[in-house]
Amino acid sequence: MSEKTIVLVTGANKGIGYEIAAGLGGLGWRVGVGARDRGRRDMAVEKLRAEGVDAFGVPLDVTDDGSVVAAAELIADHAGGLDVLVNNAGINGVTGDRSQTPSTVDPATVRIIVETNVIGVVRVTNAMLPMLRASASPRIVNMSSSVGSLTLQTTPGVDMGPVPAAYLASKTFLNAVTIQYVKELKDTNILINSACPGLTATEFTGFSGDRTPQQGAAIAIHLATLPDDGPTGGFFNDSGTVPW
Ligand SMILES: NC(=O)c1ccc[n+]([C@@H]2O[C@H](COP(=O)([O-])OP(=O)(O)OC[C@H]3O[C@@H](n4cnc5c(N)ncnc54)[C@H](OP(=O)(O)O)[C@@H]3O)[C@@H](O)[C@H]2O)c1
Repeated sequence: MSEKTIVLVTGANKGIGYEIAAGLGGLGWRVGVGARDRGRRDMAVEKLRAEGVDAFGVPLDVTDDGSVVAAAELIADHAGGLDVLVNNAGINGVTGDRSQTPSTVDPATVRIIVETNVIGVVRVTNAMLPMLRASASPRIVNMSSSVGSLTLQTTPGVDMGPVPAAYLASKTFLNAVTIQYVKELKDTNILINSACPGLTATEFTGFSGDRTPQQGAAIAIHLATLPDDGPTGGFFNDSGTVPW
């Protein structure tokens, strides 16, 4: 395996994912830019390389079994292994409608969001696990959201704002899945944590939110670069721990 730390960031062509790739690349890491669209992927890789990052494109649609298997093969061939996986790719709606409510949401919308935000993470994680297991200091970071926190959602006086119901529940589901990975892999050296970037101005939020994509990327970069005695099984934002 290469001397460099190798990371795969899913959904790295724009928004928070791009900034995670740029931040980890700035540390001298080799960065796999996971993205489903060839044009957007190539543009991101070019831009990262222009910034001095050792970036390579990884064709990746997290909803597609074949794409994910091929991505793992490409990383093994190109980089010889994988140390860190950042599961960042996510969607919050099919049409971008943020007003979806449980009683009116189209079940097809729920299915598509879960397929990307939850099953996509399982699919990618399981394909990458053999390489992560072989790494000296493996890390998995799952991009979640504080809106998926059942504790915060049910705390009187805490206003989480109008959040699409299917999206919110997909992050709760993802949190539950993350905890199960932590339990299964507790006797390995893989540190697994969830991150909340805060409300960040990206396409995802219609560019609303007071945080820049760079600020949104900071917590994932922190969790990707934890020391070997760092935490595992936690849910964090820039201020500290987020309740599950
Ligand atoms: N922005 C926020 O305020 C906020 C808050 C809490 C959590 N988050 C989480 O942070 C993560 C990144 O969000 P963002 O704001 O950076 O959103 P974004 O700008 O919309 O970027 C989302 C990324 O995910 C990719 N993606 C979506 N579906 C995919 C699929 N099937 N396969 C591969 N890639 C796929 C997109 O690729 P395309 O360009 O091809 O669509 C894009 O690269 C998400 O998991 C989101 O839930 C964001």
